[in-house]
Amino acid sequence: MMLLCWASTQIHAQAVTFYPTIAPIIYTQCSTCHHPGENTPFSLMSYSDVAKRADFIWQVISDRYMPPWKPDTAYRHFCHERVLTAQQIQLIKQWIDSGKPEGKPDTAVEKKYLARLIHHTRYDRTPDLTIRMAHPYLLKGDNKERFVFVKIPFEIDSPGNVEAVEFVANNLRYIHHVNYAIYPAVAGVDIHQGGEPATLDEDGPAAFQQFDPYLKGNVQMIHYGGWIPGTSYESFPGDIGFVLPRKGVAILTFHFAPSPVDTVVTAALHFFFKRTPIRRNIETISIGSGGIGNIMPPLLILPNQVDSFEVTAQTTKDISLLYVWPHMHLLGKSFKAFAVTPAADTIPLIYIPQWDFSWQDLYRFRHLIYLPKGSTVHVIGVYDNTDQNPRNPFHPPQIIFGDNNELMKTTDEMLTLILLYVDYQPGDENMPICETP
Ligand code: HEC
Repeated sequence: MMLLCWASTQIHAQAVTFYPTIAPIIYTQCSTCHHPGENTPFSLMSYSDVAKRADFIWQVISDRYMPPWKPDTAYRHFCHERVLTAQQIQLIKQWIDSGKPEGKPDTAVEKKYLARLIHHTRYDRTPDLTIRMAHPYLLKGDNKERFVFVKIPFEIDSPGNVEAVEFVANNLRYIHHVNYAIYPAVAGVDIHQGGEPATLDEDGPAAFQQFDPYLKGNVQMIHYGGWIPGTSYESFPGDIGFVLPRKGVAILTFHFAPSPVDTVVTAALHFFFKRTPIRRNIETISIGSGGIGNIMPPLLILPNQVDSFEVTAQTTKDISLLYVWPHMHLLGKSFKAFAVTPAADTIPLIYIPQWDFSWQDLYRFRHLIYLPKGSTVHVIGVYDNTDQNPRNPFHPPQIIFGDNNELMKTTDEMLTLILLYVDYQPGDENMPICETP
């Protein structure tokens, strides 16, 4: 009896230590954002970073504010869910309660999990190609929203089979969103022509001529993607992806939020290549504001109301979905998307019960989702235009419009679902696609 009792105290007294138990949890679940160069208030990259903020950390993990993950995991699971398990939370609690012991420092752990973060990428390795803005953009500190076009030319030795694309910038603070479109070079047009950023409503038509051969010409866009706060990167598993031509341009369209201070912004795209061929070209479709389908009723949100709007779209061929990317602005309250097949099966796509403008990611399915031709995708957005919505930009609330104009202000609204997909192939439903980071 005595022995048993003694033995159990011994086990209990075995404190949970930072090494080897807590470090991997923090490094995989927190450091991915909490590292230098990110838009986070501090780094969590070492024992002391974590130990000195232990109480604060406990607060944000116990109420599940961190790590941020907005989709309802009961509705649909995605790859790379940023969710601590109950056991991980318990271990962190035990560690704090037992006085935050360090254990035996082990630099191999830092090397394993943190080395890649110092490459200034969220991906798992250094980029194979980085293309940068040649001229930084000076965002004036006059509290005005701005739409800015930038062309980045590129020329590489041989075409690249793109496994992942990532948008990076020196300062993300005032970037409301960015889209990037990739085009091949146009015969007879110098890819380097122009090259200065061009600001809508400020620069004359001459500043925009550099974009005409691509935006107005008869040239096929190769890829379209983007970044909004919270987005990490897009990556493509297996033989899915797109081929970056030897020579071409990326056209970035920035939407800057009003800035109170002059800010220099310079941005780049990282490309990660795979050695294996691309056989299935990734495609993008946008449903709702700025895309296909009619929002019903039309997106006009009356003050002091919580209203629901819906947009639907039909698939015209058999497709397999890789990513969903929901988008609304500040009045967004919840977002749901699902598909109904011709056989009347309902396929849940995503549900975000508490929309948060700051966290808008591309979410990758764990398996390709097969949508047969003739399936209807339903997108339902609920908007809270009352005083109770802390993000409401207007007090008292005002009528808010949303329309199909691409150039939306943050204080206008949008209801958009972007889908990244490939043509369906039998067996897609069983193809796990979480392996690529
Ligand atoms: C996807 C990126 C991301 C991940 C992953 C993440 N954080 Fe954060 N965290 C942020 C950002 C951005 C902020 C600042 C904005 C905010 O407070 O919402 C923040 C803020 C915080 C704060 C300050 C909160 C406040 O009220 O000021 C703490 C503490 C914190 N994070 C701890 C953690 C811990 C612990 C983890 C891992 C369990 C974690 N974070 C994972 C992005 C992230």
